[in-house]
Amino acid sequence: MKLIIANWKMNPETPQEARALAKASDAKGLVIAPPFLFLEDAAGAVTHAQLGSQDVFWEDYGAYTGEISAKELVSIGVRYAIVGHSERRRIGETDAMVAKKMVSAMRAGITPILCVGESREEHDAGRAQEVVRRELELGLSLVVAPSYAHSQMSFVVAYEPIWAIGSGTPDTPESSANMVLYIRKVVQDLGIDYPIRVIYGGSVNAGNAKSFLDKPEIDGALVGGASLKPEEIKKIVAIASTY
Ligand code: PGA
Repeated sequence: MKLIIANWKMNPETPQEARALAKASDAKGLVIAPPFLFLEDAAGAVTHAQLGSQDVFWEDYGAYTGEISAKELVSIGVRYAIVGHSERRRIGETDAMVAKKMVSAMRAGITPILCVGESREEHDAGRAQEVVRRELELGLSLVVAPSYAHSQMSFVVAYEPIWAIGSGTPDTPESSANMVLYIRKVVQDLGIDYPIRVIYGGSVNAGNAKSFLDKPEIDGALVGGASLKPEEIKKIVAIASTY
C-alpha cells in the first residue's frame, strides 16, 4: 500500500461540506488533511482514513496567538502533519521555522511530511537538485542535531516541484522518480539511517496517479485539487492499494 495524502488546502467552506467530503473519500491508506477547523468533523466522518494537519507550530503551549501545537493535534487524533508546503513558504515560512516544526511534530508522535521542491525559474536554470538539497539540509537540521535524541518516529518527504502544483502540468514520472532517489541520497548523506518514505506531489489526479505510483522509488502521492473530488481520490487510493 502506498501513502496518499489528501491536502484540502483552504477548502471546503462549512463543517457540513467537510463531513460529507471526508465520508465520501474515506478509505484505508488515505490521510485526509483538512483545514484545522474541520479536523474533528473529518475525524467523526471516517472509519478508515487517518488524519493529517496542513501545518503545526513548534512550541507545545503558551502565548502564541493563532497557532496550533503538535500536542494539541495529537489530542484529537492527528497522525501526520504537512510541514513547509510551498504555499506556506510563499507567505513567509522560513527553513528555520520548518526545521523546528519537524522536531516538534516528531517529538509529539506525529509523522511530519516535509515538502521540498524548486520553482519554475530554478527548474529552468537546472538548479532543482541544489534547491532540494538545501531545503533538506536546513529542514532536517534539527532532526539530525545531536541534541535531538533519535526517537522512534520517522518522517515523509514530499517532492513537490512548485511549477507542478495546481498547474495541471505534473512532473514526468521518470524525472520525479530520479529526484526521489536523489532525496534518499541526501537524507543518507545527512546521517539518517532509518527508513523514510518519499512521495510525489503536483497535479496528481486519477488519470496519471498510476504512472507515478508504478515507480518503485515513489512511495505515494500528495494530492491537492483532485482530493476535493471524492470519485478522483477514491480511484487514486484504489490504485495505491495495489502496491
Ligand atoms: P495539486 O496540489 O495536486 O493541486 O497540484 C498538490 C499540493 O499542493 O500538495
